[in-house]
Amino acid sequence: MLYYRQRAIDQIVILTGAGISAASGLSTFRDADGLWENHDPMDIATPEAFARDPALVHRFYNARRQQLAQVQPNTAHRALARLQAALGDGVYLVTQNVDDLHERGGSEQVCHMHGELRSMLCLHCGQRQVALATFDSATECPRCEARGGLRPDIVWFGEMPHYMDTIEAHLRACDLFVAVGTSGAVYPAAGFVQVARSAGATTIEVNREESDVAGYFHHHYTGCATDQLGLLVDELLAGRVG
Ligand code: APR
Repeated sequence: MLYYRQRAIDQIVILTGAGISAASGLSTFRDADGLWENHDPMDIATPEAFARDPALVHRFYNARRQQLAQVQPNTAHRALARLQAALGDGVYLVTQNVDDLHERGGSEQVCHMHGELRSMLCLHCGQRQVALATFDSATECPRCEARGGLRPDIVWFGEMPHYMDTIEAHLRACDLFVAVGTSGAVYPAAGFVQVARSAGATTIEVNREESDVAGYFHHHYTGCATDQLGLLVDELLAGRVG
């Protein structure tokens, strides 16, 4: 059994956001130099924007996919993989991030509720497949060979995130909920802390600063995820008895 500050912990849910990948060199969305500082999300990250100007949307995601190939996971990603390796099914990792740094950092179970940069979806045949390094409206679907149907496999504003039933079930059953590097600006993820807390979980925020939902957290590890998450994981694993 694992104890955190005298509380027995059997099930842990970890939610991550863009802040965990910041130290790897990937921009967040809403920080000073964030992606949404330089792009209007309504021109980039909605189905309407894609219908209106697919070339603009493809350029944005092709550039992010190329940048992803240049960066590496950091110690925060690895700390979570270490916790998962130690506790197995006792940890459920859900991320809003579309990068693959959790997987490259050693995590075997990662729930991508907002989709993945490394996946593409064909609107003609409905197939999800490994994304080409770059693609656009002229690219043929490798499966159905139709043109003009490929889109980034990303959950855009106004679309339903993936795996919500599974995530909700884990939130209602967990003893500990940890949010890492997320601003609490976007729902439904920003509401997870309330679901977990109202089900009796202890809640922890790891962030460089207080998020928009900071008030729902029992404990705060304030600082960079690369510093704070290793400390939290050490504290959790030190709390293991038997
Ligand atoms: N360590 C810890 N936290 C950090 C760090 C760091 N090195 N750098 C930034 N942060 C924190 C910021 O303080 C902020 O609270 O990470 C958070 C990043 O917030 P956002 O940019 O809003 O990213 P996120 O919360 O993941 O966005 C949620 O919004 O745009 C949509 O779909 C997109 O998944 C995304 C969702």
